[in-house]
Amino acid sequence: MDYKGRRIWIIGASAGIGEALARMLAGHGAHLILSARNEEALAALAKDCNGSQILPLDLARPKTLAEAVKALSLKGTSLDAIICTAALYDPGRVVDIDPVNAEAMVRVNILGTIDVARRCPSLLRDGGQLVLFGSVAGYIGLPKGQPYSATKAAVNNLAETLAVELAPRVDVRLVCPGFVETRLTERNDFPMPAIVTPDEAAKAVLRGMQKRGFEIHFPRRFTFVMKLVRVLPYVLSLRLIRRLR
Ligand SMILES: NC(=O)c1ccc[n+]([C@@H]2O[C@H](COP(=O)([O-])OP(=O)(O)OC[C@H]3O[C@@H](n4cnc5c(N)ncnc54)[C@H](OP(=O)(O)O)[C@@H]3O)[C@@H](O)[C@H]2O)c1
Repeated sequence: MDYKGRRIWIIGASAGIGEALARMLAGHGAHLILSARNEEALAALAKDCNGSQILPLDLARPKTLAEAVKALSLKGTSLDAIICTAALYDPGRVVDIDPVNAEAMVRVNILGTIDVARRCPSLLRDGGQLVLFGSVAGYIGLPKGQPYSATKAAVNNLAETLAVELAPRVDVRLVCPGFVETRLTERNDFPMPAIVTPDEAAKAVLRGMQKRGFEIHFPRRFTFVMKLVRVLPYVLSLRLIRRLR
């Protein structure tokens, strides 16, 4: 993979897929800017990633992203890619939703991603990539998956719009993982078919970024099944989904 010397900003770098991406990209010689809320975790990661720059921020607090963008603009930073993996997860049955957690998820997963899409592309060089993380969970509403599923459907939809609105200057990519073994899925109390490691996920993302194509989805043995369910008539797809209850 040819990432040597590439300048890449990862928002959501302190854990999970974002951290695996940072370690892999640093291994390939990329220059990284690492963001998330946990400054300590970012600082420790930066040491392992060729002394990457850290820019702590909280997508629930738009001012912190605005300040980060301003700091990078003032330095005249021109980026090859911005990868936003940041998201919150607290799934359950709709009847059990905690409104405070639901609001936080909408704020970070939807409004935070919109904010990234609004403020950050000006930092990209012509032809640079904006990589947003949706999910196969956004393909169709799953039982015990809300409101996370709905926020990911929103990101999938947002990325489709951006791919048209920002072209040709910005190359927008949507990443839709299946299950990945991170702190996010640690809370799932059901079997997760075809689950992959964060390293496998990071490899699939980086490979996808170097190819053509809007959506990067993996592992394909799982994502193609979900794509099929999505295109079935509701009379069939909801019958299949009912089995997951
Ligand atoms: N794991 C899966 O199975 C799976 C499947 C489909 C899609 N995805 C998507 O893939 C992405 C990465 O997931 P993951 O499994 O790697 O999750 P993770 O391990 O929980 O990591 C999430 C990252 O987002 C950061 N973050 C969370 N809230 C933030 C906020 N308010 N502001 C800034 N950063 C914030 C976290 O850092 P701090 O806590 O330090 O802020 C962390 O670095 C997410 O968008 C998720 O929806 C994951």
